[in-house]
Amino acid sequence: MKSFFITTPIYYVNDTPHIGHAYTTVAADVIARYKKLSGFDVLFSTGTDEHGQKIQKSAEEKGLIPLELANKVVSNFLRLWKRLNIEYDDFIRTTEERHIKVVQKFFKKLQENGDIYKGMYEGWYCTPCETFWPESQLLEGHRCPQCGRPTEKLKEESYFFRMSKYQESLLQAIEEGKMRILPQSRHNEIVSFIKQGLKDQSISRTTFEWGIPLPGDPKHVIYVWFDALINYITVAGWSSDEDRFKHYWENAYHLVGKDILRFHAVIWPAMLIAAGLKPPKMVFAHGWWTSEGEKMSKSKGNVIDPFAMIERYGVDQFRFFLLREVPFGLDGDFSTKAIENRINSDLANDLGNLLSRTVTMVEKYFKGQIPSDTPATSDLKLHNMLKEITPKVKKYMDEFDFYRALEEIWTFIRRCNKYIDETAPWILGREKKYNELSIVLYNLLESLRSIAIMVYPFIPSSAQEIWHQIGIDENIKSAKFDELFNWGNYKPHPVRRGRILFPRIEKKEPIGVKGKEEKKVEEKEYISIEEFRRIKLKVAKVIEAERIPKTDKLLKLKIEVGEEIRSLVAGIAKYYKPEELVGKRIIIVANLQPAKIRGVESQGMLLAAETGEELALLTTDREIASGSEIR
Ligand code: MSP
Repeated sequence: MKSFFITTPIYYVNDTPHIGHAYTTVAADVIARYKKLSGFDVLFSTGTDEHGQKIQKSAEEKGLIPLELANKVVSNFLRLWKRLNIEYDDFIRTTEERHIKVVQKFFKKLQENGDIYKGMYEGWYCTPCETFWPESQLLEGHRCPQCGRPTEKLKEESYFFRMSKYQESLLQAIEEGKMRILPQSRHNEIVSFIKQGLKDQSISRTTFEWGIPLPGDPKHVIYVWFDALINYITVAGWSSDEDRFKHYWENAYHLVGKDILRFHAVIWPAMLIAAGLKPPKMVFAHGWWTSEGEKMSKSKGNVIDPFAMIERYGVDQFRFFLLREVPFGLDGDFSTKAIENRINSDLANDLGNLLSRTVTMVEKYFKGQIPSDTPATSDLKLHNMLKEITPKVKKYMDEFDFYRALEEIWTFIRRCNKYIDETAPWILGREKKYNELSIVLYNLLESLRSIAIMVYPFIPSSAQEIWHQIGIDENIKSAKFDELFNWGNYKPHPVRRGRILFPRIEKKEPIGVKGKEEKKVEEKEYISIEEFRRIKLKVAKVIEAERIPKTDKLLKLKIEVGEEIRSLVAGIAKYYKPEELVGKRIIIVANLQPAKIRGVESQGMLLAAETGEELALLTTDREIASGSEIR
């Protein structure tokens, strides 16, 4: 079976886990799950980076020994991964014996090859970043170019790795595509960095003890990055299980944040080439999250705590948001408004509704199970669209372009909702056209089966719940991504209407708003009940929506009002996208004098609440037939 090895960085143990840690690990989990569905033998590793001056200092400040601090923080990471539903295969700690042995062996190997020498290190060191900087790169006041904090001048004896020797072979590996660096902009950045000339790399320290002793010279400890990068081959089995190592290292993929790309795309592959090993197949650098528009920092108190987010919104909601909101590779901003919008529109309105509408109709019209002989292929509209998007989803997933993959999947989900509006199953039901109705419902159930497979890597428990509600008992992990093409795999079973998959998030009062005092506002002019009754308000269902060209406010809607189809013009284009409206139940004034607006006849007016900045459509709080009167 073809192998696939995916890694996250190993995280420092001086910090509590935050959104940055959660981000890479969720992304790696999504890839691992997707590759498993695609038939690969996957190895997914994560872990902790426990040595170095930073950890030692941090432990001292807390009155702990470094390993005590590490043990504490590791338990937080393990708890978070469990909570986030991360299914890693290995969790490596750099203080484990298996790793220490590998690091020392690796060092000796480079030494034997003549790639290690002893010299004097003179330069500037940033402890928070555990990084050496040449003076030429420092900011004013000898501050670190990465984090802006002060660096300290070091002059000490150090062992060096002859990295300069590998400049050409490294460039070649990158240019021949043996090691891909993504996104492309990062590739260019790294290539030009290497072309400026690689310096030898200091790989040992003598001013503190918390590290792996350097073989043969124990007053030195190995530089924490040299130690940490090697974790990837420890996990794969280098020098302990050569067959396993060969199998997995062939296809190693590293996910990292943009700040640690140079370590992974320059130092690490140079170390590997020096040791006679292949560089990883790919290093993907993702962007950074800010919090409500600002850089996250403890002092500002705006660090996003993943535990709190899961508590507030749910695990799958949080996982989904991280990968849906921002293209992987770019920076993104985390805000309450953004996550709530995503949950309400993509998850509750689109996916959640599709499931509940389908299951409810199967219950209502077929007592919970459509006939088992319903033909699967007599109406291929949805099948055709699925055939169109699946290869795209696959292609994007293979490139770790989650954002686009999800966009394709959601185009299909919206198409399914639209299919319900077009086929109007409630009319088929009313007219007792049960054959046609069962075909429509079959198509929806079969589409949901496939949708669940596609969204499973992102929102695994919700995907399983979709299968459960449409009557499939198997574990969704046993699905194969390619089975998506086998339209007709759904076998009618009793559906089970269950919990609402994604409850809508109601806007919460911002913290600090005091209870409002009761206040009576006198309306100036009363109307009589008879006057009110003259206005005929009705429920209508949006079947189609499109922008009216050359206007930025107007949308043209096709609506169903009972048996009748009308057109209606609404000035809501700034607040709603046309595709968001299709399928919605709205409230209209049905007996308003028709009027022509921009050449389109508007047969009615929809109702909306408006503040001047925001607008929300009026709708009904549960499903009710279009045409129903409002009194
Ligand atoms: N220990 C090193 C990695 C060694 S890998 C051989 C390290 N650890 S870290 O705990 O600082 O974690 C870092 C990961 O979290 C990096 O990939 C970094 O990019 C990521 N993030 C830290 N803050 C982040 C954001 N605000 N947003 C997204 N990711 C961020 O570096």
